[in-house]
Amino acid sequence: MDRLSLFSLSLLLLIPSLCFADEKLSSSAVDSNDSDDLLIRQVVSDGGDDHLLNADHHFSLFKRKYAKSYATQEEHDHRFSVFKANLRRSKAHQLLDPSAVHGVTKFSDLTPAEFRRNYLGLKQRRLKLPADAHKAPILPTNDLPADFDWRDHGAVTGVKDQGSCGSCWSFSAAGALEGAHFLSTGELVSLSEQQLVDCDHECDPEEYGACDSGCSGGLMTTAFEYTLKAGGLEKEEDYPYTGRDRGPCKFDKSKIAASVSNFSVISVDEDQVAANLIKNGPLAVGINAAYMQTYIGGVSCPYICSKHLDHGVLLVGYGSAAFAPIRLKKKPYWIVKNSWGANWGENGYYYICRGPKSHNVCGVDSMVSTVAAIHTTK
Ligand SMILES: *[C@@H]1O[C@H](CO)[C@@H](O)[C@H](O)[C@H]1NC(C)=O
Ligand SMILES: *[C@@H]1O[C@H](CO)[C@@H](O)[C@H](O)[C@H]1NC(C)=O
Repeated sequence: MDRLSLFSLSLLLLIPSLCFADEKLSSSAVDSNDSDDLLIRQVVSDGGDDHLLNADHHFSLFKRKYAKSYATQEEHDHRFSVFKANLRRSKAHQLLDPSAVHGVTKFSDLTPAEFRRNYLGLKQRRLKLPADAHKAPILPTNDLPADFDWRDHGAVTGVKDQGSCGSCWSFSAAGALEGAHFLSTGELVSLSEQQLVDCDHECDPEEYGACDSGCSGGLMTTAFEYTLKAGGLEKEEDYPYTGRDRGPCKFDKSKIAASVSNFSVISVDEDQVAANLIKNGPLAVGINAAYMQTYIGGVSCPYICSKHLDHGVLLVGYGSAAFAPIRLKKKPYWIVKNSWGANWGENGYYYICRGPKSHNVCGVDSMVSTVAAIHTTK
């Protein structure tokens, strides 16, 4: 066993409080007392290819844990081979991203292509912005707090689940408006993604055919443009999520719960991102999700991750120091709310490193937008 594997093994077995300075970080990754989970996680950290010998066992645990059943034996065998390939990928990710924990997740029976098609959904476009987009003014950054988390201030709703639908963009946009609405009214209201999925067909002004299109993807800035023109979003409970995009638009103007005043894009600069986060609330961001299919917890800080953005998420805060045992130093990180349910990642959250040395890893600072809500009183 080499040094790296030893360290990553110890990451799994150490007392949780040793691993991370922040309580929130340590929660699901390491302190579960579920022995199945422990077995599953060790899979990627033992040396050599031994883990594949146990693939049968791990696949059984996986099927039980996530209540998976397959229609035919043929389908079952196919999923098992995909699962084995994902065990190898998790192991590769663990080596490339040692400060996070990678292993079996609820997506372990999906090929990378199936995963991209069904669980991401950020449309890559030439970045021509909607007509009403502003450029966010440059804010002072000298007095930024070392740690900040909008969850501590009541601006973030619970983790949602986009299901098998490439609608991440709608969750990112609705989450940003939920935060902005909270800042302007003091009320936290869960907003409707399904309204965006069904009704928002807003298009890129320059690129023909590049439009928000339900489960086939979209973009947060065009979702803000739609919301501005439509008048606002309904509540989640009034227009609930189905994760399907074949239905008609059922938007009812009389039920608008939050409205956009204006929206802006933030320059690619992590201090500006932090300053805007604190001033304006949670931010809609694009990210490269390459390491997220196998992510279990910790701070993701891969050695290699391109800036090809394919997923929309919500930036809700940042921390100054999560202790990364492998690198033997503390790493600053962003706190990212995802939309894959609370049974993924760190209770539904993803932590990705920030700081000048992390060089905008996975493009996390590249496509950041902020929205302001109209102050309404009822
Ligand atoms: C640990 O197990 C106990 C008893 O089965 C359970 O009540 C508790 O919620 C578990 N804790 C965690 C962190 O899973
Ligand atoms: C955006 O809207 C907010 C709230 O109504 C307002 O305070 C702010 O000045 C607006 N920004 C721009 C660029 O218009």
